[in-house]
Amino acid sequence: MAKKFFIGANWKMNTVPLGWDAADSPYISTGNPNIVVFPSSLDLCRCIEKKLSVGAQCGRPETAGAFTGDIAMQELKKRGCTHVLCGHSERRQHHHETDADIALQVQGALKNGLIPIFCIGENADQREMGETEEVLAEQLLRCASVKGMIIAYEPVWAIGTGKTPTPKEVSETHAFIRSLLKDKKTQILYGGSVTGNNAAGFFAEEEIDGALVGGASLKPEEFRKIVACAKKM
Ligand code: PGA
Repeated sequence: MAKKFFIGANWKMNTVPLGWDAADSPYISTGNPNIVVFPSSLDLCRCIEKKLSVGAQCGRPETAGAFTGDIAMQELKKRGCTHVLCGHSERRQHHHETDADIALQVQGALKNGLIPIFCIGENADQREMGETEEVLAEQLLRCASVKGMIIAYEPVWAIGTGKTPTPKEVSETHAFIRSLLKDKKTQILYGGSVTGNNAAGFFAEEEIDGALVGGASLKPEEFRKIVACAKKM
């Protein structure tokens, strides 16, 4: 049976890419791969209205209250989001989200009927010191027995840098991550400088179930190439 791929387009704090709502938009999910876009909060609703599959870049597990600037996961679900990123490294860095905060987000997402994309990954120093597995194990600790989430392995040093680990290295790291998870069928995505040129190499690996794409997801033709790579598998 063909593997079911997942490709996320993380548009970060950018406006929607050109042609996002065209009839032949590469962001429309046609089954396999499952394509989910992660627009800025301001663009969530118009993407939902255009029938894209939509996830939020962050959300809070509390239902309402005094959290200036935040959006409740319950509200995301009500508006039609299906997924939510939890613990993206840019949230860990700029919003000081901790592993404990992120574990609450993962639980909160599931409770509200959203699929959490739980992001983990080592930084350059940690990789250089040979601490990758230790770091990933620590980040995973509170969520290792969770069912129903997707994991995105995103080495921080590979995000937006054009540098990537080899598909083989990613595959080995995914196998390590999977060994720590209770649900061995959890989808594990790779993220970090995925492009139309390198996606096929990643997707060919048994352990890699798809990609979370940042920069290249803002270029429709580049993104179309990534989707085509998954379709060919
Ligand atoms: P990138 O971003 O593809 O630009 O490296 C990936 C991400 O941050 O999810």
